Amino acid sequence: MSTTLSCDPHASYRSVWSKKPMLRRVYEDYYRRIAAACVAGETIEIGSGIGQLKSFIPTAISSDIQHSPMIDVVADAQNLPFRSGAISNIVMLDVLHHIEFPLLFFREAERVLRGGGRCVMIEPAITFGSTLFYRLIHPEPVRMKATPFAEGLPNPTRDPYDSNQAIPTLLATRDRLRFERTFPNLEFVDVSWFSFWVYPLSGGFKRWTLMPEFLGRRLLVLEKGIESALGRIFGFRTMIVLQKRAD
Ligand SMILES: C[S@@+](CC[C@H](N)C(=O)[O-])C[C@H]1O[C@@H](n2cnc3c(N)ncnc32)[C@H](O)[C@@H]1O
Repeated sequence: MSTTLSCDPHASYRSVWSKKPMLRRVYEDYYRRIAAACVAGETIEIGSGIGQLKSFIPTAISSDIQHSPMIDVVADAQNLPFRSGAISNIVMLDVLHHIEFPLLFFREAERVLRGGGRCVMIEPAITFGSTLFYRLIHPEPVRMKATPFAEGLPNPTRDPYDSNQAIPTLLATRDRLRFERTFPNLEFVDVSWFSFWVYPLSGGFKRWTLMPEFLGRRLLVLEKGIESALGRIFGFRTMIVLQKRAD
């Protein structure tokens, strides 16, 4: 590995990003959804990676547990370096399912958000239509028997890419009631299911793609048109928006 790569854990992601217009189109849609769900005020992105959110929310503060030249602050989602009640939006794209103890993150989110502030997350959705892809083709595990409520001390030597892709879906479905009881101040204001085959066929951050841009662009429009009817059954993505109740 070159010196540049070892100093910048996200360098290979950035290189793929610059070479794949289809990937950028898919993510543009995600960032627009995130920006539209935010409320006015200070926005913190957690697990920013290559930090593209700033093109859509220029004032956002980017952070990640890994140091890199692309981010403003090194921060662990489980122990956030922000004052209580100081933040209007916490946004995350593909991060919740990488956090070792999601329960610790939600305690921190509840603490740092102001009344009316939001936590906006876009994550993998494990649905009838996506489950085979995520289980057999995507390299990260899908453990539907796990719990987002595990307690523990974060392991400082853990690989930040360790994951369980099932966590967001469990939170939005099987464990939603338990979440609402555990965090009565964090209210679900939206759970949506969307994004079908364009994203997996784009190859994501892999170097290959099976989806030429001209076709992908048209299919993305079609996907938007069917998401409200078919997203819950066939979608590959979920957006979860939580809002802290006003004081
Ligand atoms: C799959 S990447 C997503 C990066 C970026 N959001 C994107 O969509 O391109 C997951 C990111 O979460 C970060 N991460 C993992 N655990 C974290 C934690 N406990 N706190 C903050 N960031 C974390 C990783 O370092 C990595 O950059």
